[in-house]
Amino acid sequence: MEAAAPLPVIAILGYGTMGKALAGGLLKSGVATRDTLRVGVRRPHPQGVDPRTDGLGLPVLLNVDAARAAGTLVLCVKPRDVETLMAQLREDGALDHHPLVISIAAGLSTARLASLAPGCPVVRAMPNTPCAIGRGVTVLARGPGAEDAHLALARSLFTSLGAVLELEEKHMDTVTGLSGSGPAFIYMVLEAMAEGAVMRGLPRSVALELSARVAQGAAEMVLATGRHPAALRDDVTTPAGCTVAGLLVLEDGRLRSVVARGVEMAAKVAGELSN
Ligand SMILES: NC(=O)c1ccc[n+]([C@@H]2O[C@H](COP(=O)([O-])OP(=O)(O)OC[C@H]3O[C@@H](n4cnc5c(N)ncnc54)[C@H](OP(=O)(O)O)[C@@H]3O)[C@@H](O)[C@H]2O)c1
Repeated sequence: MEAAAPLPVIAILGYGTMGKALAGGLLKSGVATRDTLRVGVRRPHPQGVDPRTDGLGLPVLLNVDAARAAGTLVLCVKPRDVETLMAQLREDGALDHHPLVISIAAGLSTARLASLAPGCPVVRAMPNTPCAIGRGVTVLARGPGAEDAHLALARSLFTSLGAVLELEEKHMDTVTGLSGSGPAFIYMVLEAMAEGAVMRGLPRSVALELSARVAQGAAEMVLATGRHPAALRDDVTTPAGCTVAGLLVLEDGRLRSVVARGVEMAAKVAGELSN
């Protein structure tokens, strides 16, 4: 990926799985540098994190100090923690300069976010963990006060981490169940496919590599050709062959409806997370 021009100072508030994934991806792409990226934490000495720098060499500050220094805040705390975080920022005047507030919290509406960050333009984003290696996908939804320039900034931030789509906010919980949770579903399928080969005696490491490369190739075929997965599946499925034999076993196990219901359930729960 070509190095992009660095954005103005960005503060990542909440440094868990996603905060670290986003920080790592932003640094790797060059869209942020160690001079333009800050990490905000709620305690001065969080366990396992050096108070001055983290593993990436980023300055780790208290939330208010990180927020005051930044033109863009990316909220990477759990949905239930957003309210407390924003209350603290408001009380300490850390939102007085009206930064762009981007929340990746599942289920948290832009209307709620705007009420927690009065006067700040807000954008809701749903990234996923492959953002850490620049192969993620993020869906953006415009919130109150967000002008085209704010959306463009959010887009350039997340484009450095993978693909970006913009959708109406009504789809965000569904997107959360599909692309936010989706990597976990794919990992389960990868693991299961590898297990079948391990059962036949293939070394586990080889089975996992083959399984992952199959998923990567198949996904890229869908994106590159624009053909429906069912048509691509037919290409693999010779009459009276081994693939159709395997597919019938998967159909007996109702794989398609189980996976579809899994996504549907994840989306439903996503909508309840910030309640
Ligand atoms: N995981 C995913 O695949 C994924 C994908 C898309 C979106 N999301 C969204 O991303 C957000 C974060 O998820 P996660 O999986 O990264 O969770 P996580 O690993 O638990 O990280 C959350 C971090 O927030 C910190 N935190 C809590 N309250 C804070 C506060 N007031 N100020 C600063 N830091 C605070 C926690 O640290 P301490 O408790 O040590 O303070 C923790 O390190 C969630 O809203 C989730 O909906 C997650």
